[in-house]
Amino acid sequence: MTTPDPGGGLGPGAVESLVAAPPAMSPSTAGGPFDPEAVRRDFPVLHRPVNGRPLVWLDNGATTQKPRQVIEALGAFYGVANSNIHRGAHTMAREATAVFEESRAAVAAFLGAPSPAEIVFTRGTTEAINLVAQSWGRDNLGPGDEILVPALEHHSNIVPWQLIAKERGARVVPVPLLADGRIDVDAYADLLSYRTQLVAISHASNVLGTVPPLREMIALAHRHAARVLVDGAQAVAHFPVDVRELDADFYAFSGHKLFAPTGIGALYGKPELLAAMRPWQGGGNMIDSVDFGETTYAPVPHRFEAGTGHIAGAVGLLSALNWLTALDRDAVTAYEGALLSYAQRALATVPGLELVGAAPDRIAVLTFTLAGFDPATVADWLDRDGIAVRAGHHCAQPALRHFGLDSAARASLALYNTPEEVDALVSSLTSLRQQAG
Ligand SMILES: Cc1ncc(COP(=O)(O)O)c(C=O)c1O
Repeated sequence: MTTPDPGGGLGPGAVESLVAAPPAMSPSTAGGPFDPEAVRRDFPVLHRPVNGRPLVWLDNGATTQKPRQVIEALGAFYGVANSNIHRGAHTMAREATAVFEESRAAVAAFLGAPSPAEIVFTRGTTEAINLVAQSWGRDNLGPGDEILVPALEHHSNIVPWQLIAKERGARVVPVPLLADGRIDVDAYADLLSYRTQLVAISHASNVLGTVPPLREMIALAHRHAARVLVDGAQAVAHFPVDVRELDADFYAFSGHKLFAPTGIGALYGKPELLAAMRPWQGGGNMIDSVDFGETTYAPVPHRFEAGTGHIAGAVGLLSALNWLTALDRDAVTAYEGALLSYAQRALATVPGLELVGAAPDRIAVLTFTLAGFDPATVADWLDRDGIAVRAGHHCAQPALRHFGLDSAARASLALYNTPEEVDALVSSLTSLRQQAG
């Protein structure tokens, strides 16, 4: 029988051997200009062909690809370190618990949160938002209260609020958009009132790319004593986040959108808010003591983590955070900004192509329509050339409706995309247009 070797064995240093130390991870960490080619070498899947062509992965808004460090960390966990956590007085339970909690600490550091106790592991952004809606919302929303939600939000940041609002007699109030896809901040300021209990807003839009003036909007909400939940699903892979600087009350993200596995994500909450919140799911791990007379609950964050969590996912998330934070993040943001400008200029040369949304502060999300072709046909055509884009409503129907659309194609870029890949997209779209005659 062969035993997988995680490199160094477990025991003291188990965590380090599961999750390779940052300096070993990427040749692009040396502090020079960001080098996407060096980063690409870390992603095995980017080197596979699709339909006989080199894969061009432009569906990063849906999910990002995984570097080999993350893939290896998952294999190492299951190969030599698999155990449940927070229970069992044996070595492997202690090792698994250590790496799980190290991941929590890494998430706290990544978000600029003062303490790991302010980080709750969830399945992702959707579950994090539902947690706040079902726990905080149930105790803090009542008849006549309002939740302000910009019209560009993902359905994950609309529907959970509609569910709890209906239950509590509160109202979800859309914040309108300007013609270019920015949030109308003046209208937002006018909508804020003593009735506003919560503002739920994304740090970057998955369909328009818009990055709102969040600090200003949070400060405005706080002047009305409203809380602010930030949906960071599309932000975290693109630029550094600091929840303290933002003064966000809650911040949610999904691991799979920042190079980590699916099924793991996190919620940051201000400690005084989390401490006052009731559990939203019951089960193992979240209790202090159970009795048919009275059950008491574990302190935060464990109070919100009923049942066995995605332990391997947390290991993968730790590895992804180590990988990402070893890069010069400002250089990454600058590179993505330059790639976005390049893509905007290049796409403008395709006859009949119209970009949806033109907010100046934005991430590299390019949603578009192509005259004469429905978005599904466009995506299908590109797929034949090995180019993966998304077509449909992107779980943001109100945002598309603002532009009179019910469907569009979307190319969403990440740090490993290149100008050559943008050229491939443009060339494939141009040849599709030529088919139309
Ligand atoms: C802005 C935004 N919020 C929330 C989500 C939901 O994320 P998840 O499905 O990982 O929970 C997404 C996913 O695309 C998103 O783009």
